[in-house]
Amino acid sequence: MSSYGNYPYQRLRRNRKSDFIRKLVQEHHLLVTDLVYPVFIVDGKNREESISSLPGQKRFSIDQLLKVANECSRLGIQGLALFPMIEGAKNDKFALESYNPDGLVPRAVNVLKHEFPNLGIFTDIALDAYTPDGHDGVVDEHGYVSNDLTNEILAKQALCHAQAGADFVCPSDMMDGRVLKIRATLDNNNFVNTGIMAYSAKYASTLYGPFRDATGAVSRSGSSLGKSGKTTYQMNPANSHEAIHEARLDLYEGADIIMVKPGLPYLDVVYRIKSEFKKPTAVYHVSGEYAMLKQCGDWLDYDRAVMEVMLCFKRAGADIIWTYAAIEVANLLRTGC
Ligand code: PBG
Repeated sequence: MSSYGNYPYQRLRRNRKSDFIRKLVQEHHLLVTDLVYPVFIVDGKNREESISSLPGQKRFSIDQLLKVANECSRLGIQGLALFPMIEGAKNDKFALESYNPDGLVPRAVNVLKHEFPNLGIFTDIALDAYTPDGHDGVVDEHGYVSNDLTNEILAKQALCHAQAGADFVCPSDMMDGRVLKIRATLDNNNFVNTGIMAYSAKYASTLYGPFRDATGAVSRSGSSLGKSGKTTYQMNPANSHEAIHEARLDLYEGADIIMVKPGLPYLDVVYRIKSEFKKPTAVYHVSGEYAMLKQCGDWLDYDRAVMEVMLCFKRAGADIIWTYAAIEVANLLRTGC
């Protein structure tokens, strides 16, 4: 305790007494440039559908998506992450639609990059939107999600998104070796500047429930994900050393940015990964976390609660925050909440 000198009695409240001093001693700050907005897209025209599990969020057809992109870019949000709802008969065991160059995602990417070249476009690399059961990969005859066969398809999907103009492809599937396979495929096709944001520590979380409603995976598959859900590929929420291994491998395989998902219950993992690698680190404030805040009603002040959560992501070490609250947060930052 020698650094406290001879007089040990400290009054830490002095630096909390007034607004000006609280602001001057503040260690972490949230900026609008930290935010990426995940958005749901559907085929068709003039569609803007509410999502009952995600109050305030909608599924947009590409024409309506342009308005969202415009708002994000006006507010200073740095990017959009696209999640498709694939309808009709376009789901099949081998997820053929996932790398159709005329599919919904490549078309959306193309139009967005044309209209808003400065807005970062992030695409999801996984097969769940395209398989009948909602698994992120191809299910074999034993009900197991086949790793290497899935990687082949993921690489085609990533290349298809890169060709459409995606800035970053974001594998969220948790297959082993996917980042290496995707990096090699992109490089071999001269997409050396398309980035990879890897969902490195993605946990088998119940907090993805509203997302699976938003993409239609729930209604399509019912409970056909099976009793074990995605636990044979997504991480066990009990583990954090394993998250370090996952992130190290993804970086080694060529990931530019690593992500932790979900966010709030996993801040220890964000902190560990950032401290260990000191690499660009993203956190995904997932659908269930967002929905919980929204559905608290009058029991908490939503605006202040959401800003607190965002700041806690920064304190834990996140550089980038994916949140459905991005537009709300950007507006709150403007009004100085
Ligand atoms: C699909 C994917 C999921 C999410 C992002 N990409 C769902 C899942 O793994 O089942 C969840 C995002 C959220 O809950 O907001 N691979």
